[in-house]
Amino acid sequence: MAVERSLDIFSIANGLARQAHANDGDTFEHGCRMRPVCDLLATRLGLGGEEVGRIGVCALLHDIGKSTLPETVLFKPGRLTPDEYRQMMEHTSNGHGMLRDFGHPWLDCAADAALHHHERFDGGGYPHGIAGLAIPLPARVIAVADVYDALRSERPYKPALNHEKAVNLILRGDDRTSPSHFDPAVLAAFEHGAPAIRQLYDEPVAGN
Ligand SMILES: [Fe+2]
Ligand SMILES: [Fe+2]
Repeated sequence: MAVERSLDIFSIANGLARQAHANDGDTFEHGCRMRPVCDLLATRLGLGGEEVGRIGVCALLHDIGKSTLPETVLFKPGRLTPDEYRQMMEHTSNGHGMLRDFGHPWLDCAADAALHHHERFDGGGYPHGIAGLAIPLPARVIAVADVYDALRSERPYKPALNHEKAVNLILRGDDRTSPSHFDPAVLAAFEHGAPAIRQLYDEPVAGN
């Protein structure tokens, strides 16, 4: 008798990320926190259920290349040297290399998102410096959720910001972050979805 197997891409992505990030500190949880934020942004952009799900898988796996970084770079509490920063930037292309050969369209998409999630809408990002709509949509969505999560998280060199300060910084910018880094449509979805995003972080539902 044939045994039916269903391919649950979410379970596969989750297991892949959990395994890859076993020694990466908070990186697995970072992807898990970002997934519902990306769901919310994608839904507000008017995308359908399959596209929303695909972007969620991309969010779970976007930093998988960090598993290739030496601990001296990944966990360095202070400022990175130029050479260490170059190594850190390689988590994008390394992540792409880790995901590109599975032969599943959602993981192909996750490979592209891993490669391009640090590109900026104004062209000032890495690794390729592409701009605007040339950046794949999942990477444009992840870019906003990524910065929000980084701002809300405590690091050895900085405290966690509260929701209002994080939203204000993303929408208004500071000496490091500018609204020009982000797709204006995603930024608008973020601004309008901000109360729901605050709830995801500050009032998580039990079991999530
Ligand atoms: Fe990253
Ligand atoms: Fe990230």
